[in-house]
Order: sequence, then structure tokens, then C-alpha cells
Amino acid sequence: MVELTDSVVVITGAASGMGRSMALEFGHEGASVVVVDVDEDGIDDVVEDIDDEGGEAIGVYGDVTDPDSVEAVVERAVDEYGTIDVLVNNAGILDDYAPIGETSIDDWNAVIGVNLDGVFMLTKAALPDLLEGDDEGVVINTASIAGKVAGGGGAAYTTSKHGVIGFTKQLSHDYGPEIRANAICPGAVETGMTEALIEAGEVEPMVADTPAGRHAQPEEVAAVALFLASDDASFVHGTAVDVDGGWLVD
Ligand SMILES: NC(=O)c1ccc[n+]([C@@H]2O[C@H](COP(=O)([O-])OP(=O)(O)OC[C@H]3O[C@@H](n4cnc5c(N)ncnc54)[C@H](O)[C@@H]3O)[C@@H](O)[C@H]2O)c1
Repeated sequence: MVELTDSVVVITGAASGMGRSMALEFGHEGASVVVVDVDEDGIDDVVEDIDDEGGEAIGVYGDVTDPDSVEAVVERAVDEYGTIDVLVNNAGILDDYAPIGETSIDDWNAVIGVNLDGVFMLTKAALPDLLEGDDEGVVINTASIAGKVAGGGGAAYTTSKHGVIGFTKQLSHDYGPEIRANAICPGAVETGMTEALIEAGEVEPMVADTPAGRHAQPEEVAAVALFLASDDASFVHGTAVDVDGGWLVD
């Protein structure tokens, strides 16, 4: 039984795709949701959808690559709801599948900046609030199957997602039991990130190698985030849960 009533949940990249689904699901479960993104229209839509369902949410513009913006997100969340119980570092961007030799430093920095530096900066900024009080703080980081094997993205994306899994383990090592940190490793999911790839048929070879025989919908990943945030996952620390329809089996 997921019991998240009265939890304060901050979710980045929450205007679209998996972050949006997570925001709606957490809102549905009675959490107070802080919807963070750089897409202000998207933020407003998600907050409105949560409101319409009778849930509680605020939207906060936040660029996870900008230290001042990250600090402002934490400040706004705490001003509004008093603390942060659950942080979901979900914002991410894909690279163009370029191998190392064809990855420019700008492209490298852009991807590492959002996918890895952003996770570090927001987690660090939220730590005092996550550690406050008697209840454990929960951190959930959206990694990827590209965090476990090469070839799920280009050089920058693969490196960033391996880094997210390493960061999650270190967070667990450094701050358990006060913080329970886990990562999620989705396979192909239909979101803003993959829409064009799916339409162009570029995800089909991957689907053919997936025991589930299809790509996922964002709700199927949000359900795992909800579980990881709940007390049902009380003994789940420092792991990286595959939500990939079995793609990683071989
Ligand atoms: N879609 C997939 O198949 C897939 C698979 C594995 C992992 N992932 C990961 O899932 C996460 C969510 O991606 P999605 O597929 O839902 O994509 P999406 O593009 O639908 O959503 C990503 C969101 O992140 C936001 N964002 C981008 N840069 C930001 C920044 N600097 N600060 C704050 N927000 C920012 C975007 O505006 C967008 O709303 C990402 O970390 C992605 O790497 C996606």
C-alpha cells in the first residue's frame, strides 16, 4: 500500500513524459508536489491537471544546470510546504548517439550538465531538508538502461547515466539510513524525448529485442517511482531498478 499523504515531493523534468506522469501519480496519492522544469507552459498544465484531480501542487521554474536556480527551487519548496521528503531527479536530455570521437565538448557539457551535474546540485541543495526530522528522506534518480550498458545512447548520454547510478550508490553509502536513495533504469518509453524516434521506427529494433515486445508508457515507470518512494520499499537502498521490459536480459 503506497502511503504518501502529506509527503512533499520535488520532481524535476516534471512538465513532460515520465516526470509528468510521476507528478500526476504522486498528486493522486495525496502528496504535495513541486513541479520543476524549464518549460513554463508545461509546468502550468501539470499543476492544473493535479488541481483538477483535487491534488496539491505548485509549479516552479528551475534549470537544474544553474546553481542559483537549483537553490531557488529548494527555497520555494520549503517556503511553501516546510520541507522536502522526496526528491525525484528526473530531468534529462538525450545526445545524438555520437561516439566519443564525434562528440563535441559543447554537446558533452550540455548532456552531462543536465543529466549528471543537475542531479548532484539539486541533491546537495536539498540535503539539509531531506535529512531533517525523524523520517528518512527519499531520493529517486532517473537513470536509464544506458546507465548499465554501452550503446543505449551516445558517449555523453551513456556516461551521464552510468554516473547517475554511481552517484545514487554513493548517496546511499554516505547518507543511509537517513536517506534512502535509488535509481530507475527505464528502457524505451514513449515521451517527448522519444516521440520522433518512435515515429521514425528507430525504436523497433530495440523493441524486437525486448521480452515485453513493446515500448513502455510513462505511467509504467511512474508506478515504480511511487513504489520506491513508499514505505513498501523500506529495505530497498542504493539500487538501480530496471524498468525495461526485460531488454537487459541479454
Ligand atoms: N524516454 C525514454 O525512453 C527514456 C529511457 C531511459 C531514461 N530516460 C530518462 O528519463 C528522464 C525523463 O525523460 P523523458 O523521457 O520523460 O523525456 P521528456 O523530454 O518528455 O521530459 C524531460 C523533461 O526534462 C526537462 N528538462 C530538460 N532540461 C532541463 C533542465 N536543464 N532543467 C529542468 N528541466 C529540464 C524538459 O523540459 C522536459 O520537460 C530523463 O532523465 C531521461 O534521460 C528516458
